[in-house]
Amino acid sequence: MPVISAPHAFNEGSLFVDLESIFGYRLYLKCEGFNFAGSIKLKAANEMVESAERDGTLKPDSVLVESSSGNLGVALSMIAASKGYRFLCVTDPRCNLSTKLLMEALGSQVHVVTDLDENGGFLGTRLEYLRALCASDDRYVWLSQYTNAGNWRAHYRTTAPEIAGHFPRLDVLFVGTGTAGTLMGCARWFREWHRPVRIVAVDSAGSVAFGGPPGRRMIPGLGMSMRPPLLDESYVDEVIRVEEADTIRTCHRLARRGFLFGGSTGTVVSAATEWLARQDARELTAVAIAPDLGERYLDTVYQTNWLQDLYGEQLLDSAGMPDPAWDEGPAPRAPGRRHRP
Ligand SMILES: Cc1ncc(COP(=O)(O)O)c(C=O)c1O
Repeated sequence: MPVISAPHAFNEGSLFVDLESIFGYRLYLKCEGFNFAGSIKLKAANEMVESAERDGTLKPDSVLVESSSGNLGVALSMIAASKGYRFLCVTDPRCNLSTKLLMEALGSQVHVVTDLDENGGFLGTRLEYLRALCASDDRYVWLSQYTNAGNWRAHYRTTAPEIAGHFPRLDVLFVGTGTAGTLMGCARWFREWHRPVRIVAVDSAGSVAFGGPPGRRMIPGLGMSMRPPLLDESYVDEVIRVEEADTIRTCHRLARRGFLFGGSTGTVVSAATEWLARQDARELTAVAIAPDLGERYLDTVYQTNWLQDLYGEQLLDSAGMPDPAWDEGPAPRAPGRRHRP
């Protein structure tokens, strides 16, 4: 059992869920949500902060600023609180309420931009706000997860070797793409260590990360309204785009089996099962990366009204939401309980 004195000193890196009994394929889900920041972004945040400390960019009176749809913001809030830095997170209305509250609880300031950029997303607006901020005072330090090599290096150092250590004969790896940090760190590691692993990038429909027209995206985490500067497509064997309705169906299918994951896990697992079904790949070993857990999505992905308003009644039926009759029926007796005559 580890004993720690800083919240970022603990990260469970060796937990995989075997999804064969749910989906029928040898698909293992690498769980990245078991740390105090609750997501894979702890790795990137740690690496970027430490490298800024090493090269002298980050000083005791610096104010960290970053654009994040949530998870990196939480990870940086936690690290900033632990190390005594101030932190301002610039986000947009798709950031979950609980994520925003979490950042504030950790002592960070959160600024929500509301104007759409030219691609119909908020990223352009967030970046513009940050540029103006940094130009106004040189105490602001913008780590810039979209361009910072520490973002992919974190996964090169940790995520990829953690996967290869458990699955030395891995055939295919499914990685969701936001900034492309996870994707590039893993893809570079497998290429440089000469492992013949097929790298499948997963994106959400409506994202322009790999080209294509922009569209509405309501689930934070995956997808970008610009091409990720860290992305080098020569490392990627295939790209799969997933509709949000399929993401939600997959999240609910996992939840019905007791695994409550975040939206991007539903996206990645949906892509992986679709790909494995297409290849009829029952003999292949596949890993997909689950960036976080589901609690932050209780008021979105797992909330009936939110789903109904955005995607319509039909999705609720196909997602297997609980039957309302369940609430009205008699409560089942607790097993082994004696009833007086
Ligand atoms: C929930 C979730 N999924 C996926 C990603 C994508 O990871 P990356 O930015 O490394 O591409 C992130 C990153 O913020 C995330 O928070």
